[in-house]
Amino acid sequence: MEAKVAPSLLSADFGNLARDIEEINASKADYLHVDIMDGVFVPNISMGFPVLKAIKKSSQKPLDVHLMIVNPDQYVERFRDAGAAVLTVHYEACTHLHRTISHIKDCGMLAGVALNPHTPVEVLADIIQDVDLVLIMTVNPGYGGQKFIEHSYAKLLRLQKMLKDSGSKAMVEVDGGVNFDNAEKLVNHGVNVLVAGSTVFGAPNRAEAVLKLKGE
Ligand code: DX5
Ligand code: ZN
Repeated sequence: MEAKVAPSLLSADFGNLARDIEEINASKADYLHVDIMDGVFVPNISMGFPVLKAIKKSSQKPLDVHLMIVNPDQYVERFRDAGAAVLTVHYEACTHLHRTISHIKDCGMLAGVALNPHTPVEVLADIIQDVDLVLIMTVNPGYGGQKFIEHSYAKLLRLQKMLKDSGSKAMVEVDGGVNFDNAEKLVNHGVNVLVAGSTVFGAPNRAEAVLKLKGE
């Protein structure tokens, strides 16, 4: 099975975003992954609405927006208006996750839920049928270029079992430390979408890097 690839713009050249997005437009990437960090949920701050809107103007790929922010519920409409196609919130940041997921879907976006490395997939038992995507963080969120956490494979297998048992059609996405060496193994563990920041933007030819992650 071929994986979808979502290059993470966090590793792009922020002084030349339009140029870097152009390279992704010309590639076989399936989404453009955009990381929103608030400096509270994670110890880093990335970008806000004006930058996201500018990204949307340049991108021909659907925007896969990963919110690493507290209280995401209050910004759902604004992320829709800024161009998000997929909106993913963190389980750890949502007291009323069911309400937030419904809100995202009512706004016409695909709804994703992300889990930090220490959060077991079993906490999703009563929401797995309502989400369009489960994002397994394979590093601690906040920064690009970190080392993949090996324990993630066991977690992915448990997630596959949950999906099968529940009949959920949710896509599985991994984010953090994805590279040419582990991409195939991740796909063999049921991953549908590979997020890759430094592996794509650190490569001399980004389109080739996307193909290589897809195993082509
Ligand atoms: C980290 C972000 C990732 C990051 C991944 O918190 O969610 O999307 O850009 O970067 P790499 O692929 O370099 O680990
Ligand atoms: Zn991300």
